[in-house]
Amino acid sequence: MKKKILITGGAGFIGSHVVRLFVTKYPDYNIVNLDALTYAGNLANLSDIEDKPNYSFVKGNIVDGDFIHNLFTEHKFDAVIHLAAESHVDRSISNPIEFVMTNVIGTVNLLNAAKQLWKTSNNQPHPDSHRDSNLFYHVSTDEVYGSLGNEGLFTEKTAYDPHSPYSASKASSDHFVRAYNDTYGLPAIISNCSNNYGSNHFPEKLIPLAIHNILHSKPVPVYGKGENIRDWLFVEDHARAIDTIFHKGKPGDTYNIGGHNEWKNIDLIMLLCKIMDKKLQREDGTSVKLITFVKDRAGHDLRYAIDSSKLQNELGWTPSLQFEEGLEKTVDWYLANQEWLKQVTSGDYLHYYEKQYISR
Ligand code: NAD
Ligand code: TYD
Repeated sequence: MKKKILITGGAGFIGSHVVRLFVTKYPDYNIVNLDALTYAGNLANLSDIEDKPNYSFVKGNIVDGDFIHNLFTEHKFDAVIHLAAESHVDRSISNPIEFVMTNVIGTVNLLNAAKQLWKTSNNQPHPDSHRDSNLFYHVSTDEVYGSLGNEGLFTEKTAYDPHSPYSASKASSDHFVRAYNDTYGLPAIISNCSNNYGSNHFPEKLIPLAIHNILHSKPVPVYGKGENIRDWLFVEDHARAIDTIFHKGKPGDTYNIGGHNEWKNIDLIMLLCKIMDKKLQREDGTSVKLITFVKDRAGHDLRYAIDSSKLQNELGWTPSLQFEEGLEKTVDWYLANQEWLKQVTSGDYLHYYEKQYISR
């Protein structure tokens, strides 16, 4: 029988790359993509694979526990790769409850449904399940570790110290996943990844927002002095890491994923401006003039940087792209997909966002 895998949040940025990789690389798996299609979810991200026989889409909300229970009863999933989340720190600052609902309650609903399907209440494997292959894979962020000073890297042993409502909600969901592993024996793996960039990224996050605004000659907002540091990983490298960990990782373990690619925000934006000038055939220095320093984000974490040596040494994964190459590829994708950009910004979202930074 074909292995049936539930991927949540598959219409979003990272989820769409994970769904595409699994659907095309594993024709023997049935992939079910569950997504509520919030502002960040977009089925156009998957238009090239939507007709594949091993792919199906279900629209639904992970916050609805009865719906999730019925979905698991109907499909009897062998494994879950959970990416659905509210993912933007600035939004979490203005509306934390939404993050608690999706990231915490939604995750616990999925854990309950998996526990119920894969085990009976006395901790015996469910007769319908393929116990050996059952896995709850929870996709998380390095932001749960808090903020670094100028030195050091996050390892799997770094204590959790989340600061933003987003990272607090992700940390909480990670703890619930571990609790279900420890208490009920639910086979679970967590990975914590650094900042991703690439195609299908909603233009509220730094890189796609800057590309969008430069393209339209609008101000590029840089928070504070632009001195905060992020460790950037190409999204397709993250999807490959998830594939590697899903197949070779040890249940009960955690894996850090990162690109050893630290950039100060302002240096990153300067590089992006240079690439955009070249691609748009504008005079050198045109885009830099759009840089606008705005009020800093509340509780802004100074630096994230990941030590991914466990994943590299134990499971053999390595990032494939240099940042300059990946960034250029990303810019090319946005310039070739301006219809996509127009479509996702056509609601009132960017309007709201612009209001937010223009009033700073
Ligand atoms: P995203 O915001 O682009 O996509 C999230 C997806 O989840 C969307 O398709 C949305 O429709 C769906 N969704 C949201 N709420 C839902 C709900 N209640 N029920 C069902 N579906 C819902 O996010 P992303 O950047 O692709 O992040 C995916 C996962 O990876 C998240 O768990 C995030 O915490 C984690 N992560 C992201 C990054 C990053 O740099 N973007 C880095 C590390 C980890
Ligand atoms: P973001 O892409 O929101 O990711 P995260 O907050 O999860 O790391 O932001 C990346 C960095 O860029 C972060 O230090 C905040 C900063 N930033 C800006 O300076 N301007 C912006 O308009 C945005 C969205 C982010």
